[in-house]
Amino acid sequence: MRGGLIRLLRSGIGKSAGIAARCVMSRLGELRQEAEWRKCVRSEKYFLEHYWYIAHPAEGRILFRLRKAQAEALEHWGEYRYSLSLKARQIGWTTLVAAHQFWLAFFHADQNIIDLSRTERESVLLLRKSKYGFSHMPRWMVDRGPKSLIEHQQKMGFANGSQITSMPSASDPARGESATLVVVDEWAFLPNAEEAWASIEPVADVGGRIIGLSTANGSGNFFHGLWVGSTTGANKFEPMFFPWSATEDRGPAWYEEKKQSMLPWQLAQEYPTTPEEAFVKSGNPVFDLDLLEEMQRHVRFGESGYLHRVSARAVEFRR
Ligand SMILES: Nc1ncnc2c1ncn2[C@@H]1O[C@H](COP(=O)(O)OP(=O)(O)OP(=O)(O)O)[C@@H](O)[C@H]1O
Ligand SMILES: [Mg+2]
Repeated sequence: MRGGLIRLLRSGIGKSAGIAARCVMSRLGELRQEAEWRKCVRSEKYFLEHYWYIAHPAEGRILFRLRKAQAEALEHWGEYRYSLSLKARQIGWTTLVAAHQFWLAFFHADQNIIDLSRTERESVLLLRKSKYGFSHMPRWMVDRGPKSLIEHQQKMGFANGSQITSMPSASDPARGESATLVVVDEWAFLPNAEEAWASIEPVADVGGRIIGLSTANGSGNFFHGLWVGSTTGANKFEPMFFPWSATEDRGPAWYEEKKQSMLPWQLAQEYPTTPEEAFVKSGNPVFDLDLLEEMQRHVRFGESGYLHRVSARAVEFRR
């Protein structure tokens, strides 16, 4: 029986059946890839979680499993044309925006995406994150997608007419452009936050989207005004706040440790718990705001006396 089967396989019939089977398998493979491609076009989250790699400082190259806050931000960016994120440090926002802009450019035609960063170095680093993910995509997906036409430090361009240009804000790259998306990273720290806005605003006015991200940098500056406007409805931005706990691996013990190693204003700026804290206490204020708050609790109206500092963090009212 077995000998008969081997003889049959060795015969011409066996060979052509083998070739046919291989053809069917390869066609099936193509169909599966096409179905995957379509899923990725439909769902950005699906694409990122199945095909997008990021560089993690401790774990090396890993698939981009979106954190809850990152998934929320993606939805927000999809929903609103003007989005403003006030965020704590190192919660993965540059990584997310780099992946998002790549998905837009690769899977959609005629996207003109402009990134504005604080310095040239930061603009290169932002685009490098998009390139990193692109360079680790499966070969079949790269072949199925639009051909990459331009790739240099500050630009990626595809045959579908889409491109991403990443520049320092001072070079005024948005002026005269018709961008479909402008990303402003670390807005509060741009050397020309206000002028940057003056060149972006007309872009958005004709239909483009704006994603603004930043850690706070004290109050009273342009970014603070933009944030307040977004929360009071005075401008078109939709605000989103992401505190220090916006990544699942940070808990109270992590925060306690940071508290011990940073000055209060630094902690409030880099790792705020509330938007108020982010703005009021950040930017190295002249007064110790915790102490002022403590003092306010001890003041008794109608009585005269003085506040005595009993320790670095405590005061008492004395007559
Ligand atoms: N979902 C994720 N899972 C694991 N690691 C992540 C995830 N998202 C981002 N990271 C990693 O977190 C680190 C910080 O990311 P990123 O620089 O994007 O954060 P950021 O919020 O822009 O930080 P900064 O406040 O310094 O600008 C990076 O090493 C990145 O690879
Ligand atoms: Mg960043």
